[in-house]
Amino acid sequence: MTTAAEMADRLQQVDRMFGIDKVLADRGKDLIEIYYEQSGPAYDRLLSASGAMHLALTMQGSEPRPEDYRAQPTRVVGMATNIGASRILELGCGKGFNATHVARALPDRAVLGTDLLPAHVETARRRAAQAGLSNLQFEIASFEDLPPHLTGFDLAFAVETLCYARDLDKVAQGLARALNPGGRVLIYDVHALTPPETWSAAMTQAVRLYETAMAVTRGFHAAGAWEAALERAGLAVRNVVDHSARVQPGLRQLESLGDRVVTDWKKRSAVTLAPRYMARNLIAALLGPHVYAVPEAGRDGPLAYQMIIAEKPRLRPGARTRAATPA
Ligand SMILES: C[S@@+](CC[C@H](N)C(=O)[O-])C[C@H]1O[C@@H](n2cnc3c(N)ncnc32)[C@H](O)[C@@H]1O
Repeated sequence: MTTAAEMADRLQQVDRMFGIDKVLADRGKDLIEIYYEQSGPAYDRLLSASGAMHLALTMQGSEPRPEDYRAQPTRVVGMATNIGASRILELGCGKGFNATHVARALPDRAVLGTDLLPAHVETARRRAAQAGLSNLQFEIASFEDLPPHLTGFDLAFAVETLCYARDLDKVAQGLARALNPGGRVLIYDVHALTPPETWSAAMTQAVRLYETAMAVTRGFHAAGAWEAALERAGLAVRNVVDHSARVQPGLRQLESLGDRVVTDWKKRSAVTLAPRYMARNLIAALLGPHVYAVPEAGRDGPLAYQMIIAEKPRLRPGARTRAATPA
């Protein structure tokens, strides 16, 4: 259980090192490019040398192992196999970790990874070339405005990227257009289970710092918001699963790395000299385990790590979908 005193201590540490008001002054700003430019080396060194830029999905209680970073793309492989997907699209693919895993596991299926940032796509292409995967391609594209040629996919997935979306309806409509009838959407992301006005002042500060430290400067979307947007776009939501307990071990591991920094003056001064948006990942590390809702682990934060699955209905002969019907 995170007690009020522990939370107050954490917030004080963050305030001493970074200045809470200074960090929160960045809320609402577009920091995606500078955040990833500066944080890239920290992700490689502290999260996953193989380029995963997401949380490990660990079995509860155990330490995260390298294969736990493959849990999300392994789920994609399972779904692609079950539905016989021949074309698979990843949104916000980062350095290509998930797309590469899927393409390697399914050499007879075509996989396309897309990301907003040219630097990520370049790294992903280089890694794919090293892996010698001829069924894997990468393209620069924003999910906010999916290019019209991206159609005919049987499965589209997004791991910890749609938290950056501004217009959920536009993204959902783009996904609906990109999919074949019967195609699936698989999303892993963090969502807020309860409205901010119900959070304590300390929890509100902790969540806002956690978000801003990872460039989610408009805040995580409310739980249910994606389901509603997908349904409005004519997709049918099939499943929503809460994996918050499975991200706790990884978050605790990052927290203990963070603790080693704040208790060692040499490491602490190295952080103060690091590029600003790289250094602020320490804030996310110190607060991460405390902002999620995992009652069995005594965590009573408002955030949840969720998996959402939706399907584009198959057209019955002569039928028109809701989304395809002009108003
Ligand atoms: C936390 S990383 C996750 C990367 C990858 N999905 C993974 O699991 O390793 C978030 C990614 O979203 C990308 N991103 C942010 N906004 C985007 C947008 N509008 N369109 C496409 N990608 C975007 C970032 O460039 C970054 O690569």
